[in-house]
Amino acid sequence: MYIGLIHLHSALRYVVVLLLIVAVLKAFAGWFGNKSYTEGDRKLALFTMISVHLQLVIGLILYFISPVVQSALANMGAAMKDTELRFWAVEHIATNIIGIILITIGYSTAKRASVDKAKFMRTAIFYLIGFVLIMSAIPWPWSRVDRGWF
Ligand code: HEM
Repeated sequence: MYIGLIHLHSALRYVVVLLLIVAVLKAFAGWFGNKSYTEGDRKLALFTMISVHLQLVIGLILYFISPVVQSALANMGAAMKDTELRFWAVEHIATNIIGIILITIGYSTAKRASVDKAKFMRTAIFYLIGFVLIMSAIPWPWSRVDRGWF
């Protein structure tokens, strides 16, 4: 189950990254282009939020079964001094959860806004910050902790 979930979580990152890029670009285009907020815009923002929530659920399961995280949690003092263990025990989870919370706030405040421009603006700002945080917490091949492309 661990290996299966790692692969699923790893592959789903590309769906998350792609949806976030499209959602942020469309939100900025709508905001600055004074466009009307359509059902398609709402669905794009919704599916993007669902994709990060799915990552959160898989990530939480992984957190409790991952041998890497378990070895870090067994000795947090030592783990804090180890770049890789600290990344998995603290940095990856904390940064992603903050990003996911911001995206969720962005979706719900955009939903409550009465003016189209405000809907686009809230989605653009919250999703952009969420995107930057999530991108910074992915173990890309160029990151301090590198897990390759897949
Ligand atoms: C959108 C948010 C997230 C993205 C894009 C993401 C992405 C990734 C990637 C690419 C990996 C490496 C997979 C591999 O080794 O091939 C990974 C591993 C992992 N992620 Fe996430 N993640 C996200 C959120 C979370 C959250 C919120 C948690 C915890 C609640 C979490 C917990 C983990 C754990 C425990 C591992 C595996 C550590 C190990 O055993 O090697 N992730 N994640």
